[in-house]
Amino acid sequence: MSTVLVIASSVLGVSSVSNQLIEETVTRLRSQDPQLRFVFRNLIRSPVPHLDEDAVTALRGAEPTNHAQLTALNLSNDLIAELQAADTIVIGAPMYNFGMPSTLKAWFDYVLRAGITFRYSESGPEGLVKGKRAIVILSRGGLYSEGTAQALDSQEPHLRNLLAFIGITDVTFIRAEKLAFGPEAREQAIDAARQQIGETIREACRRAA
Ligand SMILES: Cc1cc2nc3c(=O)[nH]c(=O)nc-3n(C[C@H](O)[C@H](O)[C@H](O)COP(=O)(O)O)c2cc1C
Repeated sequence: MSTVLVIASSVLGVSSVSNQLIEETVTRLRSQDPQLRFVFRNLIRSPVPHLDEDAVTALRGAEPTNHAQLTALNLSNDLIAELQAADTIVIGAPMYNFGMPSTLKAWFDYVLRAGITFRYSESGPEGLVKGKRAIVILSRGGLYSEGTAQALDSQEPHLRNLLAFIGITDVTFIRAEKLAFGPEAREQAIDAARQQIGETIREACRRAA
């Protein structure tokens, strides 16, 4: 049975655009394959803590010497196991101050582990999380996929780099942008993103058939 890991990181709950688009993605995936297993990780309801000295010590391979180190190591192991068990990863990523939410960055901080999700080889770094597909839903108030603000986008390139670094290169970005450009632009952006989600999932099913 295929597994989908769904990661939500918006603080806005039910009014969040990325949360609504995650729901759309889950509904469409489920209707294509009712046997799919879904694992939900909501980074607002269950935040991953920021790195601290104990966490970094444990995640960099030292034997845990206190409770905080053991807790950090266990959390990291659990998050990585969840990722490794998934065939598809759906990530909801709002733009906060030009980048991803710090809660989502904290998840990556616990998941990028040398020797486990990536390794350094003679030819450079190699991602060890292979054979996965990701759908990343970006929600933003402004327009960053074209025009003058493109250079300010620290959200999409950062997410692309982090995923590629651990070996996830089959990534589709769904962009809901111009959400703050008035009700009409907002509605259009959400509709376009919904359409893109439908096309992405239909195309993935065609490829898999
Ligand atoms: C704390 C915060 C910071 C934001 N920073 C930006 C930003 O830098 N650029 C932008 O275009 N929109 C920004 N926005 C707007 C959000 O990207 C927009 O509201 C989006 O819909 C949030 O995603 P969500 O609806 O899934 O929560 C920000 C919103 C919040 C709450």
